[in-house]
This record gives sequence, C-alpha cells and structure tokens, in this order.
Amino acid sequence: MTTFGSAQSAGYDRRATRLLGSLYRRIAADIDTATAQGATVVDIGTGPGKLLSTLATRRPDLRLHGIDLSPHMIEIAHRNLDGHPAELAVADVGDLPHPDATIDFAVSSLSMHEWPDLGAATRELHRILRPGGTLTIYDFRFARTAAIQQALRTHFGTVDTETVRLPWHPVAVITRYRATA
Ligand SMILES: C[S@@+](CC[C@H](N)C(=O)[O-])C[C@H]1O[C@@H](n2cnc3c(N)ncnc32)[C@H](O)[C@@H]1O
Repeated sequence: MTTFGSAQSAGYDRRATRLLGSLYRRIAADIDTATAQGATVVDIGTGPGKLLSTLATRRPDLRLHGIDLSPHMIEIAHRNLDGHPAELAVADVGDLPHPDATIDFAVSSLSMHEWPDLGAATRELHRILRPGGTLTIYDFRFARTAAIQQALRTHFGTVDTETVRLPWHPVAVITRYRATA
C-alpha cells in the first residue's frame, strides 16, 4: 500500500486549497443539516484536514475527529486546523482507533477509491457508528461504484446513492453514498 509522502502531501494541500473549496463547503453543509448540537464527527482519510477546518468554522459545537494513513497529511491537517480542537490520528480505515458505537457521523471525501479492502473498511465504519448514526462517502463518480455499494449493503443493509453537482462545475463528477448504522 502506498501512502502520501511529504512532498506529495504538501502538493495535495496546495491543490485542494485552490480547487476543492466548493466540495468541502457542500459536504460541510450536508453535515450541518444532518447533525445535532455537540455531535461527534469523524473524517476518514482527512488528508490535509480542509473539510474539518471548513466544518470547524461552520459548526464550532461539533466534536471533530480525523484519521489518515499518512503521517505527513496528519501533520498538515494539524496546521490547517489552526487551533480548532480536533482529535487527529494516523490510522487505516480498516483498523480504526475509535471505540464501538461512539461516532454520530462518519464522512469521507475522495479517499474511498484508495482503500485496499472495502469490506474491512465498511465493517469498521459500522462498528464505530452509534445505532442510527450516518456514514457519507463522497468520491469520484464511477470509482468502484458497484464494489462500495455491495460492501455498504453487506454491513449497513441499504445504501442511498446520489450524484452531487457542485456550483460552477459544468459536469457532475462526484457521487455520494449514504448509509445508516
Ligand atoms: C486524495 S486524498 C483526499 C483527502 C481529503 N479527504 C480531501 O478530500 O481533500 C486521499 C487521502 O486518503 C488517505 N487514505 C488512503 N488510503 C487510506 C486508508 N486505507 N486509511 C486511511 N486513509 C487513507 C490518503 O492518505 C490521503 O490523505
């Protein structure tokens, strides 16, 4: 399994800042609508933490967590969070550090297409969510669609799949998968 190295992580941080703001704002708006005051949210494959910092500004009441396979990404995420409280850890989605049934909302953006074992990942995501908790996965349209739907059906029962159109983007390139624990 390859992980984002130091230069690759810094390069991704720069590109994400320039190009992905509308995606992070859209996801933060979805989470805002779907979460109660003080809810616990984890961002899986948080990378440079841009979604978490967008969310921290919009909803300072949320208890934020983020994990990523790359220690370089986690270091950058700490910097980008700029003092906003968040629990960040180096971890694999297939072996999460969170105790059972402790998370209200799990989210992931543009990371699922890199996960080596979708079965192990979705089993872990189901384990850490409270009963009734929500998982949303945003990734490139057509990236492993059938495989992630199958894995989510196995561990969550059903999955809702929706194409996401971002403002100013002429083509819808993102799919959102949503499941309830
Ligand atoms: C393209 S970046 C997306 C980062 C961020 N979510 C975003 O939307 O900007 C993909 C991230 O997923 C992480 N990743 C890949 N495989 C992973 C795994 N098995 N467990 C945890 N994180 C993983 C990578 O290290 C990388 O930071």
